[in-house]
Amino acid sequence: MPKDFLTLADWTAEALGEILARAQVLRSLHRSGERPQTLQGRTLAMYFEKPSLRTHVTFEAGMEQLGGHAVLLRPEQVGIGTRETPRDVALNLSRWVDVIMARTFSHALIEQLAEEASIPIINGLTDLLHPCQAMADLQTIAAIMDPAEAKIAYVGDGNNVAHSLMLLCAVMGMQICIAAPEGHQPAVQIQRKAEKIAAETGATIQVVEDPATAVADVDFIYTDTWTSMGQEDEAEWRRQVFAPYQVNAKLVELAPKAWLMHCLPAHRGEEITGDLLDGDRSLVYEQAENRLHAQKAIVEHLLLA
Ligand code: CP
Ligand code: NVA
Repeated sequence: MPKDFLTLADWTAEALGEILARAQVLRSLHRSGERPQTLQGRTLAMYFEKPSLRTHVTFEAGMEQLGGHAVLLRPEQVGIGTRETPRDVALNLSRWVDVIMARTFSHALIEQLAEEASIPIINGLTDLLHPCQAMADLQTIAAIMDPAEAKIAYVGDGNNVAHSLMLLCAVMGMQICIAAPEGHQPAVQIQRKAEKIAAETGATIQVVEDPATAVADVDFIYTDTWTSMGQEDEAEWRRQVFAPYQVNAKLVELAPKAWLMHCLPAHRGEEITGDLLDGDRSLVYEQAENRLHAQKAIVEHLLLA
């Protein structure tokens, strides 16, 4: 079993299936008011270089609900690379806490922290990947249908969320078609990796330009912001480039039964219209809730399995 939870590509379908099953148990326990104290005495350090609502609250609340504790670290406080080296930060934290969750711009930095630390590191989003989100999405899909049967379309920017969704589908033998404009399709190395895994698992991975092709008769349509954190200066031209990729009434007519997914935060009227995001077919708050349960299961798996 890998020490860290950095990319789903390192994990097997069997292990992700175990995490999913535990997340489902944790969700029903939580909803019936039970708080199993499986992480009593355990501490999570959370390091955020970018803003967060969901990741911050779900990791912190999740640790507390399981009897553990979380410590919030901000870059201006820690100064990785300015006040001290990534290696020294990783080695110090390894002496004090049990697990680290980091949200960094650079994926290379989280890989370096993982290499230096003797404790598990969880990727809470980098510019490249968002694996915790994909696990919550898997839990959300599994509550509706067998993920192996699910047809998923991702429409918009081929970003970190798209990458992790693609890797999730590859590992779990699922079917995904990503529609993104030229120049904004998923990174070639992620697509190649996903295709390599898919050759073993029977997953179907497709990347196209035309959103209509991607969404035809799918079960789930997923979208994310056109301007990710760190790209704010590009927001204006991105709105032009991605306009044909908006998830709106016309597009969803092509998939009349599709559920709508978004990792949030959302921009109503940009990547998705407000009526759809807030409508009956939207799963966005289920996804957000499942961050809590999926991440508890990830932390338990890393610390207790
Ligand atoms: N979806 C997600 O990761 O949300 P936050 O950026 O609020 O953590
Ligand atoms: N792609 C988005 C996801 C936010 C959860 C970003 O990186 O900002």
